[in-house]
Amino acid sequence: MPGPFKAIEICDQVYWVGAIDWRLRNFHGYLTSRGSTYNAFLILADKVTLIDSVKPPFFDEMMARIASVVDPTSIDIVISNHAEMDHSGSLPQLIQAVHPKKVIASKNGVSALKNHFHWDQDVIAMGTGDRLDLGSASLRFIEARMLHWPDSMFAFLEGAGVLFSNDAFGMHLATSARFADQVEPWILKYEGAKYFANILLHLSPVVTKLLDQLPSLDLDIKVLAPDHGPVWRKDIDRIVGYYAEWAAQKPTRKAVLVYDTMWQSTANMAAAVCDGLVEGGVQVVQMPLDATHRSNVVTELLDAGALLVGSPTMNNQVYPTVADVMNYLKGLKPKNLVGATFGSFGWSGEAVKHLDRIMEEMNITLVQPGLRLKYVPDDAGLTQCRALGKAVARQLGDR
Ligand code: FEO
Repeated sequence: MPGPFKAIEICDQVYWVGAIDWRLRNFHGYLTSRGSTYNAFLILADKVTLIDSVKPPFFDEMMARIASVVDPTSIDIVISNHAEMDHSGSLPQLIQAVHPKKVIASKNGVSALKNHFHWDQDVIAMGTGDRLDLGSASLRFIEARMLHWPDSMFAFLEGAGVLFSNDAFGMHLATSARFADQVEPWILKYEGAKYFANILLHLSPVVTKLLDQLPSLDLDIKVLAPDHGPVWRKDIDRIVGYYAEWAAQKPTRKAVLVYDTMWQSTANMAAAVCDGLVEGGVQVVQMPLDATHRSNVVTELLDAGALLVGSPTMNNQVYPTVADVMNYLKGLKPKNLVGATFGSFGWSGEAVKHLDRIMEEMNITLVQPGLRLKYVPDDAGLTQCRALGKAVARQLGDR
């Protein structure tokens, strides 16, 4: 009786044999509202080759998809483009099941896999420009260090022009469609941006460098096959163009206003700051943290020009939800932002000072020292908040 999991041909000789994770909502701290896919690709050349694998719970699904087109034990070569467990987690089980003649990774990947699995498996290292003859096809490798880990690597199928780009150009999106041209463009742009913001933002200089180098790599890319989300067989320039745009982080007259509140005072300050921004002609996205996930904050920042952060002081510290977001943002290194901080306090009021320090460490240009108001803001205090919003609007200038 045939099972439900089938390989899907993406072009001549190449099949998608990955898995769709409709349930995933947390990818190391990133809210994956639409789930994800772990793409693995099977090349049915003379030497049958599998590129990447899937998270361990999806091993059987991948094997069933492989078995729908070929006996899995006929796999000659397994390539691991990246050691992170969403791609390599099934590797030991796979190798035990199919006994491939060769296992291949990047130079850094060989040690990364060893440090994951503590195994005796021989893994052959490939570097940029190295080629692998599959008989009726040929692969070329391109190291893509830090996209997303030091071991990350691309593989390019010559002739067919398939670039297996691993994490790069991917998105966390569970969909029954295997191709980007079958998905609504706004969903592709939003989920692609969210993935970039949460996974690659701090690596923007690496992305820019890669995009600059692409022409010299002499890749006639006809199919772009990342390891998450749909495969691009049309409009490849669209996702590549988005990457150039997102990596540049060109600021706009948009402000992200993040805050939390204990007794509504900081929330009232945020509302008045928002008024000032709007009066100054700025588009504002308010993100109260009792209703906002950290991964959505960084996504909104991708095309913003300003970050404003409000926090009450609690136990001499920044409020916990605000501290969490700032810790997350600091690691992802958004750039080209102006900013301001504000918050209500009772007696000592350290939160705003802490926030100003963090913003400075993030190279965010503060328009003025953080605004602190004692207990509940009065009309004069709210006027100061509106003035703060207007000052940020002025600082944004003509962006
Ligand atoms: Fe999809 Fe860096 O793993």
